Amino acid sequence: MRILTGIQPSGDLHIGNYFGSIKPMIESLDKGDVFAFIANYHSMSSLFDGKRRSELTMQAATDFLALGMNPEKATFWVQSDVKEVLELYWILSAFTPMGLLERAHSYKDKTAKGISANHSLFSYPVLMAADILLFNSNIVPVGKDQIQHVEIARDIAIKFNNEYGDIFTLPEYQIDTNVQTVPGTDGQKMSKSYGNTVNIFGEEKKQLKVIKKIITDSVPMEEPKEYENCNVYNMARLFLNDVELVELQNRYKKGGEGHGHFKLYLADVIWDYFAPYREKRAYFDANQDEVKEILDFGASKAREVAQPLMEKIRSVTGVTYK
Ligand code: ADP
Ligand code: TRP
Repeated sequence: MRILTGIQPSGDLHIGNYFGSIKPMIESLDKGDVFAFIANYHSMSSLFDGKRRSELTMQAATDFLALGMNPEKATFWVQSDVKEVLELYWILSAFTPMGLLERAHSYKDKTAKGISANHSLFSYPVLMAADILLFNSNIVPVGKDQIQHVEIARDIAIKFNNEYGDIFTLPEYQIDTNVQTVPGTDGQKMSKSYGNTVNIFGEEKKQLKVIKKIITDSVPMEEPKEYENCNVYNMARLFLNDVELVELQNRYKKGGEGHGHFKLYLADVIWDYFAPYREKRAYFDANQDEVKEILDFGASKAREVAQPLMEKIRSVTGVTYK
């Protein structure tokens, strides 16, 4: 069972990314054949600073390795190191009706928000289809916003297979209903674009400052407090086991402590949780050549799958003519 996932290198990773995407991916390393890549070509539709892109690409690779990505168990690479994906992107374009792209929510949402509509933003689902189909992916774990893109990949694969035979594996999306939306410091969904994130690898003082800004209700210190809708509690619970959770609930119920205390507690919990990962991160940060070697190794494993399939595609489409 091949499970494929792609992550755009578009900013610092936050605890929403961790619980919504990274942790489940690391946990699936023992369950299937995981293919994970850093989607640096995709980031071109919205980020134009080249230096920033290359920094964020290395940063994402370093973060992933620190958080448990195992390059022996998974195939882990940077999208642009397997150039076949761009060749396939063009070939698949010929099997992509305009209407299919015109109906894409993500494009419509982004243009509605005033993001200027360049062609890469419009044709992005075709590149994503190439990412998925080039590696015979069976399962693509996604958040709600990406379901339609996997369906588009499937539609394109069916059209291509109708013309040339059984070339592509038909992918399916997988949505994890256990993964809740992690709230941000303002109570909305935590997201880079809302400026409400608590980062995974933030600097300690900065982290505390961010956590102190979490919005809470104002109940006098002595009084019992509600925990169910408290943003501090809802962040903390992601990190706690059952016993710790009940202890925290009791502290809320008992009164005598203010939200400031719970915020300090949350800062400690987050700091301690990521401590071993921070150590690993410091190691990879100091050994960026090793990170690059791991990415090269991953790209060579990815090419072993992509190249034979691409040869077949060139042959059936008549691009190979000799
Ligand atoms: P952002 O909204 O910060 O730009 P992305 O859209 O890059 O995040 O998301 C990358 C991955 O992290 C996706 O799989 C997404 O579902 C997951 N993710 C992002 N924010 C959250 C959140 N607040 N709660 C749960 N998962 C999230
Ligand atoms: N579009 C995905 C996102 O923005 C990233 C991505 C690119 C992806 N190619 C992919 C995800 C292929 C899964 C499979 O989050």
